[in-house]
Amino acid sequence: MADAQDFQDRMLSLGLARVSEAAALASARLIGRGDEKAADQAAVNAMRDQLNLLDIAGVVVIGEGERDEAPMLFIGEEVGTGKGPAVDIALDPLEGTTLTAKDMPNALTVIAMAPRGTLLHAPDVYMDKLAIGPGFRPGTVTMTMTPSERVSALAAAKGVSTEDITVCVLERPRHEAMIKEIRSTGASIRLITDGDVAGVMHCAEPDQTGIDMYMGSGGAPEGVLAAAALKCMGGQFFGKLLFRNDDERGRATKAGIVNFDRVYTRDDLVRGDVIFAATGVTSGSLLRGIQREPGWVTMETILMRSKTGSVRRIQYRTPVK
Ligand code: FBP
Repeated sequence: MADAQDFQDRMLSLGLARVSEAAALASARLIGRGDEKAADQAAVNAMRDQLNLLDIAGVVVIGEGERDEAPMLFIGEEVGTGKGPAVDIALDPLEGTTLTAKDMPNALTVIAMAPRGTLLHAPDVYMDKLAIGPGFRPGTVTMTMTPSERVSALAAAKGVSTEDITVCVLERPRHEAMIKEIRSTGASIRLITDGDVAGVMHCAEPDQTGIDMYMGSGGAPEGVLAAAALKCMGGQFFGKLLFRNDDERGRATKAGIVNFDRVYTRDDLVRGDVIFAATGVTSGSLLRGIQREPGWVTMETILMRSKTGSVRRIQYRTPVK
């Protein structure tokens, strides 16, 4: 008999890529149109329709919001035909709604699937995040180190100077002091305006992306998705939930969080095997975005399984009317 960790990930992975592709295809006509909401809605509808075709008994644990805020793909929504394995689903039908609306790089559709009960039910609050790529010993960088200590530690571990380290950071006023401190080490910073799932994933392929480390706060749900990606690609991830008020602490309690000060590792956020798919909506250093030509649309998807460490890049071309 299959154990609880065997959730038919091999068979389901292509289905997951189709879900991710469907969301990207739906948002394609809204790239650069200045309408974040319409782009997101198109991706949500398509992702949900495609997800419901899969033979899974799925529950959305990272989704579009709480049941009373999001009509579709809300946290707790049951998805799939109900006939297959019991799985948790984490998704962001359009990660980078503003990037899409403004036709800026690195907008993605993202989805991860894991055995039921193995993904952290992250509340919709901020998370302080730290990520590096594969090949470093545990403890190379930690949440307790200052930003400059992290840069020095990673440079020493890589055997390079701090000037050779590039850190990816979300450009936000709340990160100004951190940015100043990182720059004081001589390291360079790639500022991104949105899309920290892609930001974290960049650390896993530094030769291709030029990014060595990710730091700073962003959405906690995106933190779980980023951890799922790194679990497949390799790399270390740490996240600590940040609370601004009692409402946010209440959301965390409702999600089952008891220790508000906990630093989660990648494997605390994603406790078992996971499959992950992301499709490029706009082009970036990880994935090519949607290409349109008369009668055709072409897109690129990264499809990964943690069990095998397999990373596929799938190019999909489909006719459109
Ligand atoms: P959306 O796709 O919902 O616009 O989110 C994009 C994003 O940049 C995430 O990647 C990131 O985690 C979060 O927003 C950061 O939040 P904030 O804009 O409040 O700093």
